[in-house]
Amino acid sequence: METATKTFTIDYREYASIEALAADDRELMEAAIAATATAYAPYSHFSVGAALRLDDGTIVSGSNQENIAYPSGLCAERTALFAAGAQHPDRRVATLAIVARDPQGSLAEASPCGACRQVLVETQQRGQAPIRTLLYLSEGRIREIADARQLLPFSFSM
Ligand code: THU
Repeated sequence: METATKTFTIDYREYASIEALAADDRELMEAAIAATATAYAPYSHFSVGAALRLDDGTIVSGSNQENIAYPSGLCAERTALFAAGAQHPDRRVATLAIVARDPQGSLAEASPCGACRQVLVETQQRGQAPIRTLLYLSEGRIREIADARQLLPFSFSM
């Protein structure tokens, strides 16, 4: 049997701060920060904000919505992605910005969970164009991943 070792490389870019972003991306990250205020997170005390920009420029925001039956809650990213799908079904998602607030209220790093990555990949496939992701990192740096597929190699498909 033939065997082969293969390697993934992930391309991403980092910006020193929100101020280093282009104006529209800065606005989107500010919307994600604002969305942390709408989180319902009485169990984790970890407020996540997501904001996505559609191809017509519209911003749709989401935040994590928890529930006492823990798995019934939803992450900020999927809240935003599903809200966009429900309210703007014919629009393509262009960029998604994500940020969190720790229990002390300070801005914190947020990187999407596996389930959100799976939804992001499928949203990208529906739109037939790459979705850029902007992640807030510690010390205020921003990571940009230009294609959602890079966030989830070997994603599920049927
Ligand atoms: N959470 C998100 O909203 N997005 C992520 O990317 C990871 C985790 C939420 C789920 C839960 O409400 C809280 O953060 C702690 O896990």
